[in-house]
Amino acid sequence: MSCEFCSPPSPSLDDLGVIKEVDKGDMFSLTLRMPEDIEQALADFGNRTFPRFTPANIVVAGMGGSAIGGDIAYSLLRDELPVPLSVIRDYNIPAFIDRKTLFFAVSYSGNTEETLSAYREAKSKEARCIVISSGGRLKEIAGDDVFISLPSGMPPRFAFPYIFVPIVRSLESMGVVRKRNDWEETIELLRKLREDLAPHTPTPDNEAKKLAYSLRGKLPLIYASSPLLYGVALRWKTQINENAKAHTYVDFFSELHHNEIMAWESEEKVANFAVVLLRDKGENDRIKKRVEITKELIGDKAEIYEVWTKGESKMERVFSLLYLGDFLSLYLAVLYHKDPQEIDNINYIKQKLSALPSS
Ligand code: F6R
Repeated sequence: MSCEFCSPPSPSLDDLGVIKEVDKGDMFSLTLRMPEDIEQALADFGNRTFPRFTPANIVVAGMGGSAIGGDIAYSLLRDELPVPLSVIRDYNIPAFIDRKTLFFAVSYSGNTEETLSAYREAKSKEARCIVISSGGRLKEIAGDDVFISLPSGMPPRFAFPYIFVPIVRSLESMGVVRKRNDWEETIELLRKLREDLAPHTPTPDNEAKKLAYSLRGKLPLIYASSPLLYGVALRWKTQINENAKAHTYVDFFSELHHNEIMAWESEEKVANFAVVLLRDKGENDRIKKRVEITKELIGDKAEIYEVWTKGESKMERVFSLLYLGDFLSLYLAVLYHKDPQEIDNINYIKQKLSALPSS
C-alpha cells in the first residue's frame, strides 16, 4: 500500500530537532498549552460580576492578535446576540458609538496607537468601556474603567484565550448572552486534538503536518463555508502571515459566488493557488450545494483541500478548526525556515510611527 506521507519530504516535520531549531521561541509550546490557557483565563475571570447592562451595540477595538478575539466571539455568539457587535480596527470610531455602547479596548501591549486613539474617542463619547491589556499606556489611561489584566510575556496572538474568554464572560455576566456550558467539553476536545496535531505525532496521522506539506509553495485561498467560521478563517490568515511569513487570502460563502468566483475564469496563472475549504456540519443547505458547484467549477484549476470542524457545540467546532490552523501555521513556518516568533516588520513599523509626532 502506498502512503504519500510515509517518508515525508525535506525538511521533515517529524524531525523534532528541525522544529526546535526553527521555532526558537518555542511557539509550539504556547500552542500546545491552549487548553490550559483557556482554563486559566476562566479561572482569572473567576466570579467577577458586572451590573446588568443592555447595550445598544457592542464594539471590540484592537489590532491584529488583540482584535481576533472579537471576531471569534462574534462568530460564536452571532446567533444569540440581541444587538450588533463590530470589531473596529482603526484610529477613529464610528458615529454610532455613544453612552449606550459597550466598548472593549483590547491591546496586549497596551501601546498600540490605533487602539489607544479609538479608546480615547470612545471615552469622550462616554461609552461603557472594558479595557483588556497586559499594561502599557492603555492601563495608565484606563482610570475608573474596568481593567482586565493579561498575563505578561506572551506574543499577543498566542494570548488569544486570555482575550477571548473575558470578552465572552463579560457579555454573559451582563446578561447580554446566556451563560455557556460548553467550556469544559471544548477544553477536553482541544486536549484530544493536540495529541493528533502535536509535533510528536507523525505526518501520516497528523492533519496539520499533511496540510502544511500540501500548501508549501502555494498561495492558500481560505474559503469559509459558514459565518461560524469567518473569524476562524481570519485567524488562519493572520497566523500564517505572522508565524510562517507567508501570503494567504480569505473569502466567504456565499459572497465569493458574487465576485471571487469570476477570477477563476482567468487563464493567467498569477500564482500557484491552493484552496482550503473550511467546513462545518451546521452550514446552510444551500451553501452545501454552492460548495459542490464551486468544486465542479474550479476543481481542475487548483488543488482543493477540505477541513471540517469537530465536536458538537458551536464553541467546540470553532476551536477545533482554529487549533488546526494554529498548528498548520507553525508547521508552515518550519517548512519555510522562518522563526514563528519573529515579527520584525510589524515592530519596525511601530517603531517608525512612534518616532513621529502624534497628529
Ligand atoms: C503579535 C501580533 C500582532 C499584535 C498587533 C497589535 O503577536 O499578533 O498582530 O497583536 O500588532 O499589538 P497589541 O496586541 O500589543 O495591541
